[in-house]
Amino acid sequence: MEKVKFCLIGAGRAGMVHARNYEFEIANTEIVAVVDTNKKIAEEAAKELSANNFFIDFEEALIGEEFDAVCIGAPTFVHAETVIKAAEAGKHIFCEKPLSSTLEEANQMEEAVRRNQVKFQIGFMRRFDQNFLKAKEIIERGEIGTPILVKSVGRGPGLPPKWYCDVKRSNGLLAEVNSHDFDSIRWLVGSDYEQVYAIADNFKCPQYREEYPDFYDTAVVSLRFKNGVLGMIDGCCPATYGYDARMEILGTEGMLQIGSQQAYSVLVWNNKSQLIKEGNRSWRILFKDAYLEEDKYFANCILNNKEPEVSIEDGKKAIEIVIAANKSIKTGQPVKL
Ligand SMILES: NC(=O)c1ccc[n+]([C@@H]2O[C@H](COP(=O)([O-])OP(=O)(O)OC[C@H]3O[C@@H](n4cnc5c(N)ncnc54)[C@H](O)[C@@H]3O)[C@@H](O)[C@H]2O)c1
Repeated sequence: MEKVKFCLIGAGRAGMVHARNYEFEIANTEIVAVVDTNKKIAEEAAKELSANNFFIDFEEALIGEEFDAVCIGAPTFVHAETVIKAAEAGKHIFCEKPLSSTLEEANQMEEAVRRNQVKFQIGFMRRFDQNFLKAKEIIERGEIGTPILVKSVGRGPGLPPKWYCDVKRSNGLLAEVNSHDFDSIRWLVGSDYEQVYAIADNFKCPQYREEYPDFYDTAVVSLRFKNGVLGMIDGCCPATYGYDARMEILGTEGMLQIGSQQAYSVLVWNNKSQLIKEGNRSWRILFKDAYLEEDKYFANCILNNKEPEVSIEDGKKAIEIVIAANKSIKTGQPVKL
């Protein structure tokens, strides 16, 4: 195989980030088909991406077009059925986070991937971000001693799509925004979660109180890892001021911080004596290079027959802790894993 042919499933916000990378930025990949249940979106995306075909149903794509891999950017609640269908059809799978809505689904997905021996990568792009990679190296070299406390801020600017508001369906803010924090802390600390306690509330979206009584837009999570490290996540969406993703790791011999609020290292000093810096507006800007690296990596795993390191197991671990944190919010009690 010289070029990996992709079928994009879900041509929304995240799906199109990857699809543009595969079509325009990476030499040995292309998008040949687009599936979106919204016909207009499918058609427009196929046109932009010069895909051969567009469909409103994945099964039609499996019959109507030849491809090697799927890139899933459809909503979380359709990940399980789509991944299982793709695996059964022998297609390699890149799937956006969160892996699934339930652990049962996650187990079925893992089984289908294993049985059909297809490659699978979950969309934790922070694992490909230069700053997070540098932090990982520094921790592994022991430069801050042994990590003892990790704090992670994960706040999104605006409300994500409507399906996200139903916490029973989406697992809410902690899944849709903060699963990146849960995954990257676990990766940096090198240990699995042992206990979680979380509190949350709806401060900013009174319009959802009646229709979605479980909806929360702000959360604080405290964590303990199996290796004893303590953790804390602060999440909010819509934060309204921008996309805010920062982390601080305290070690026995020092500390490190990852992430900046500034989108660019440009400072403007205007004639009103104001110093102006531009803040991060979107995950699409802050992690632009990380998405590209993650997409290149997945394509290379297919071309070189390597197992992707950001695996279905990582997706499962993130879902497991999110579900436990939501249980803690509901019961007001700490939850052991
Ligand atoms: N890694 C990241 O940083 C990141 C960022 C944003 C979203 N995401 C994840 O990506 C996924 C999609 O989120 P989004 O914000 O792009 O959503 P979105 O609503 O912008 O896009 C989803 C698209 O999927 C289509 N769709 C719905 N059901 C479908 C189905 N059964 N088959 C095919 N298409 C279908 C919708 O019509 C829509 O065009 C979610 O799982 C989300 O958590 C990840």
